[in-house]
Amino acid sequence: MTSLRNATVLVIDDNEAVRTAFDVLLSIYGARVLTAASPADGLSRLGSEVVDLVIQDMNFRREATSGEEGVTLFHAIRTKCPEVPIILLTAWTHLETAVELVKAGAADYIAKPWDDARLLTTVRNLLDLRNARAEAHALRSQRREARETLAGQFDLCGIVYESEAMHTLVSTATHIAHADVPVLITGPNGAGKEVLADIVHANSSVRKKPYLKVNLGALPDELIEAELFGTEAGAFTGARARTGRFEAADGGTLFLDELGNLSGRGQAKLLRVLQTGEFERLGSNTTRRTRVRVIAATNSNLRLAIRQGRFREDLFYRLNVIELEIPALAERRDDIGALARHFLDPGFTLAQDALDALSRHPWPGNVRELQNTIRRACLLSSNKVIAASALVLVAAQTPAADETALDRSTVEQALERAEGVVAQAARELGLSRQALYRRMEKLGLKA
Ligand SMILES: Nc1ncnc2c1ncn2[C@@H]1O[C@H](COP(=O)(O)OP(=O)(O)OP(=O)(O)O)[C@@H](O)[C@H]1O
Ligand SMILES: [Mg+2]
Repeated sequence: MTSLRNATVLVIDDNEAVRTAFDVLLSIYGARVLTAASPADGLSRLGSEVVDLVIQDMNFRREATSGEEGVTLFHAIRTKCPEVPIILLTAWTHLETAVELVKAGAADYIAKPWDDARLLTTVRNLLDLRNARAEAHALRSQRREARETLAGQFDLCGIVYESEAMHTLVSTATHIAHADVPVLITGPNGAGKEVLADIVHANSSVRKKPYLKVNLGALPDELIEAELFGTEAGAFTGARARTGRFEAADGGTLFLDELGNLSGRGQAKLLRVLQTGEFERLGSNTTRRTRVRVIAATNSNLRLAIRQGRFREDLFYRLNVIELEIPALAERRDDIGALARHFLDPGFTLAQDALDALSRHPWPGNVRELQNTIRRACLLSSNKVIAASALVLVAAQTPAADETALDRSTVEQALERAEGVVAQAARELGLSRQALYRRMEKLGLKA
C-alpha cells in the first residue's frame, strides 16, 4: 500500500458516479484524489498541481461514443506532461483505440466496468515504476553534477562515464595525480586503463613534461630492455646508439602497458631504476640517472603471478603504491548508454531496442568491444536510427582467462589434445586465439 501514499491521482470523467467511486477507492489507500468533469477542467488541474498519475475517460458527453475526445485529451496531456502515466477508461467496444494509445505511450487501459483489485494493482505498479524512474533520474543528475564539478577542476581527457564506480575511480585518479608516486592500473582488456593513465599524467605536476608509452606485451624480451634503457652502438650485432624510454621520459611520465609480460631480467632492471633512478644502456658501463613517474598497467593478476613465482613481489609493492582498479564494463552497466552514444558517428542515434540489447550484452571485450560494435553499426546501417537488428553482438564466449598464468606443460597438453589446432586449444583453455599465440611465443612453442 505504501506506494499510494503521498501520490496524487487525477481522475477525469464526466460521470459523477465514476469520479466518486475512484475518489473513495483510492483515498482509502492513502492517495490524494483530484477530480475533473471535463477535459478542459482536467488540463487546468494538471497545470496547477503536481500529478503522479492520470485516469481518464474516453467520452465526455452522453451521446458521444467514438472515443475521439479521449484521444484528443490524451495527446494534450502528453504534450503538457510527457512523463505522467495515463490510464485510459474504456468501453469494451473500444478496446482498439485504447490499444493504439498504449502504443503511443499511454501506460495502460482499463475496461469499464472495472475490477477494483486489478485497478489497484495497475495503479500501484505504475506509481512504483514512476518513483523508480524519478529516483534514477535524480541519481543521474546528481552524478552528472558531480562529474561536471570534477571536470571543472581537472582535465578528464574526454573520459565518458555515468556509473558511480567510475566516478569514484576517476576522482581518485585526479586526486592522486599530483603525488610523485608510481601508480598501478589494473583491469580487463579494453576497459580503459590507458585513458585512466592519461588522466593521471594530465593532472600531475609534470603534465608539461614528456609522456611516453611502452607496450611491454608487444615486444620480445631482448627488445624490451633496449626499448626501456637504450643501447650503446655495437651492444649487439647491428645495434646503433639509441636513447631508451627511461632517458627520453626524464622529468615526465612513463606508461608501462602490459606489465605482466615483463621478463625476470626486465623486472630486476625496472626495480633498480625505480629504487635508485639509475640504469645503463645495453652494452654500456656508464651509469645514467633519470627521474620518471611510472604508471604501469596490466590485465593479469599480479598477485597470482607473485604466488607462482612469475612476478617479483618487491617490484609489485614499488609499483602499486596506488592501485586503480577498473571494473569490467559488465559491472558498471550505467556507463553503456553514455559510451554507446559517445561512439556514434555524427547524426546517428540509437533506437530503444538497440539500447536495450547493448545494456544486456556481457561485453567480454569491454569498452573497446562496444566501440567497435557501434562503429560497425554506423558503417553498415542504412538508417540513421540504429535498431537492435543493425547491431552485431557476438554471443559471449567463456571470458578470457589470464594467459600469462598458463605454464608450458598446460599449453603443450592442450595443443596435443587439439592436434596442433591453435583455435581449438585456445577454446579449451578459455583464451582468445591471439592470447594463446602470445603465450606460445613467450614459451617458445610452435603449433
Ligand atoms: N570511459 C571511457 N570513455 C571514453 N572512451 C573510452 C573509455 N574507456 C575506454 N575508452 C576507449 O576504449 C578503447 C579501449 O580503451 P583503453 O585502450 O584505455 O583500454 P585498456 O584497458 O588499456 O585495454 P587493453 O588491456 O586492451 O590495453 C580506447 O579507444 C579508449 O579510448
Ligand atoms: Mg591498453
